[in-house]
Amino acid sequence: MVLSFDGKVALVTGAARGIGRAIALALSGKGAEVLLADILLEPLKELQAELAQAGSMARVYTMDITSVESVAKAFWSIERDVKRVDLLINNAGITRDGLLVRMRDEDWHAVLDTNLSGTYRVTRAVLKGMMKARYGRIVNIASVVAEMGNAGQTNYAASKAGIIGFTKSLAREVASRGITVNAIAPGYIETAMTEALDEKAKEHLKDMIPAGRLGSPEDVANAALFLLSEESSYITGQVLHVGGGLYM
Ligand code: NAI
Repeated sequence: MVLSFDGKVALVTGAARGIGRAIALALSGKGAEVLLADILLEPLKELQAELAQAGSMARVYTMDITSVESVAKAFWSIERDVKRVDLLINNAGITRDGLLVRMRDEDWHAVLDTNLSGTYRVTRAVLKGMMKARYGRIVNIASVVAEMGNAGQTNYAASKAGIIGFTKSLAREVASRGITVNAIAPGYIETAMTEALDEKAKEHLKDMIPAGRLGSPEDVANAALFLLSEESSYITGQVLHVGGGLYM
């Protein structure tokens, strides 16, 4: 199966680095026009230049998914620049880890507002266009901890579990319009988000992961590509774990 995204427009949030960047690169390599969105502008421009050198067209948008105004402003530009968004990858996310007894309200709200409400804001903005076109692919990046739980991550796990409920409910709302909505639950992936883990913690994790290694952003991108393809049209409302067997 050779996946092709020729003629498709894909919006990737949190595209400046890590998993979002890998998904943007993979989609671009398969012919999609990629809309790169993040709060970090410089790395987006660098990625755009890298893609241009490889002969691919990408556009850059500053978008803070926690801000209604910022999302609206970005979509004003997106609607000016492209006819519609065919593929949406809600990838931007943050952690503010801590045990619940010591959880600060601001850390609770920041994580819920970014991961869950951010996903809602961006999805709502693309949905009308997809419904009109009677075509769309939405992939939301959740996490293995949404289903496993993780001490020190009540806020993060709640936000990601929320994304899974959101995914399944929306999948039911739009399935008859040719739109699929799925989630990917990555395990431990080597990015800036997991950089803080020391070597001992990483070794311990490897012991817990049947595949015996942490994942790469490309491992997640490969799964995303399938769920974003024409070929996955009969798969919706699902959670695909990309975690080397960490959770089964
Ligand atoms: P990362 O920290 O390397 O990248 C996240 C990106 O999101 C950054 O470019 C950041 O600037 C952007 N971002 C943060 N807040 C934003 C906002 N308000 N508006 C727009 N962009 C914003 O993280 P990574 O590891 O690439 O994570 C990507 C997604 O994968 C996240 O949703 C994360 O929760 C999820 N994930 C990551 C895992 C891992 O082990 N790295 C495991 C499970 C899920």
